Amino acid sequence: MSEDFLPIKGYDHIEFYVGNAKQAAHFYDKTFGFKPVAKLGLETGCRDRASYIMQQGKVRFVFTTAYTPDHEAARHCALHGDGVKAIALEVADVDRAVKEVKDRGATILKPPTALEDENGTLITAEIKYAGDTVFRFVQRRNYRGAFAPGYEPIEAIGSDPVGFAAIDHIVTNVGLGEMTYWAQWYERVMGFSQLTHFTDDDISTEYSALMSKVMENGSGKCKFPINEPAEGKKKSQIEEYLDYYYGPGVQHIAVNTANIYDTVTELRRRDVDFLRIPDTYYEYMKRRIGEVGEDWDRLQKLGILIDQDDDGYLLQIFTSPVQDRPTLFFEVIQRHGSRGFGLGNFKALFVSIEEEQAKRGNL
Ligand code: FE2
Repeated sequence: MSEDFLPIKGYDHIEFYVGNAKQAAHFYDKTFGFKPVAKLGLETGCRDRASYIMQQGKVRFVFTTAYTPDHEAARHCALHGDGVKAIALEVADVDRAVKEVKDRGATILKPPTALEDENGTLITAEIKYAGDTVFRFVQRRNYRGAFAPGYEPIEAIGSDPVGFAAIDHIVTNVGLGEMTYWAQWYERVMGFSQLTHFTDDDISTEYSALMSKVMENGSGKCKFPINEPAEGKKKSQIEEYLDYYYGPGVQHIAVNTANIYDTVTELRRRDVDFLRIPDTYYEYMKRRIGEVGEDWDRLQKLGILIDQDDDGYLLQIFTSPVQDRPTLFFEVIQRHGSRGFGLGNFKALFVSIEEEQAKRGNL
């Protein structure tokens, strides 16, 4: 095993560019249980954009809206709708990280930049990823403030958390024929390795299919599946995403919970929509998986999926898209040994996604 040239401490945050950050922050507070922790905007002396930092467990989201039509966040929103702009990874040394990935062919969009205030120094840099999405490196060991220089803490109680603990994985959709390019990009530029490879034999329905490769960093802390559409009789849901997002981008963010029953019960109480799972799914899975000590009736009632592999099993559920365009959605996942991504559930997932897609007249 060669040395990990890009040691990553973990996910630092995910920044979303949205049409109305104030309302997005309210939604993620009231429905998903994120607590507002810091803000930047006119009140804090920032003239071009407003940003809200929302936190739950180790999951940190940033919602940003531009004040002007020519700001990059406004242009991003006009093209893509609300979506993920930056996947931020915490590293010990941004200068070194940028040098390593630059030597291996990364496109540097923002060179290492030190931001300072009375709480210390934060260093960030950005490199190009698929479409308009970027990877951001963050070095925060010498920073003690709420989030970053310029942000002011918010004194807010926030809604009760729903049990989101950490980001499990982040999935990107790319265009036809681009998956292998990006898998090799992760290997060459980021020093990641491939964890799994699903082919369209594994993940196909009568109508559509996809191919997926899962890339993981040296420590295994960060996992990035990449999907590309495969030939189907009708439009695949990956193509639908690409059409409505106007290019590649983040398809879903999976968050871990220690108790998926409680998390999903509470999210349903707060009117979060999830993909509907056909009842036949549970009959099939009971036969396939057998007894694992889970309450099948409760899983079915809540619409939670289960999958099993050699290492154990996992429970997972997928929300509907969280904006009008059929683009970004969330996954809630609880792992019991399994390090997989619910391969056995892909088909069930696709069947139910396509039911929804048909309703929108896009199948
Ligand atoms: Fe996932």
